[in-house]
Amino acid sequence: MRVDEILGPDADRPVMAAALLHDSGKVDSGLRTPGRVVATVMAGLAKHDEVTIRRWAAGGGYRRRVGLYLLHPERGAERLERCGSDPLTVAWTLEHHLPRGECTVDQHLADALREADND
Ligand SMILES: [Fe+2]
Ligand SMILES: [Fe+2]
Repeated sequence: MRVDEILGPDADRPVMAAALLHDSGKVDSGLRTPGRVVATVMAGLAKHDEVTIRRWAAGGGYRRRVGLYLLHPERGAERLERCGSDPLTVAWTLEHHLPRGECTVDQHLADALREADND
């Protein structure tokens, strides 16, 4: 279900932008679906260790692409912020993989965005 179908009039421009752009940071990696699957497996093998992932992103080769992919929330959020996006759009982009309790976005909006993304 689309976020505007879930939220109705609460799906304003920042919410719609969040729904559409939260994964925009993935483009930096240049990975397509098979590479993204590999990246997800590598993240699991590295136990999602942030230091390791940042080291990969700062390095070269395929590990760099994996690191960039795994850092897509913050890379996308930084870019959207630089472009003048609404704080809600930036926050959801940054936090969309965090556990529900760690997310600062309004829970009603976050739940709708999460549901729409899982469809
Ligand atoms: Fe994502
Ligand atoms: Fe997503």
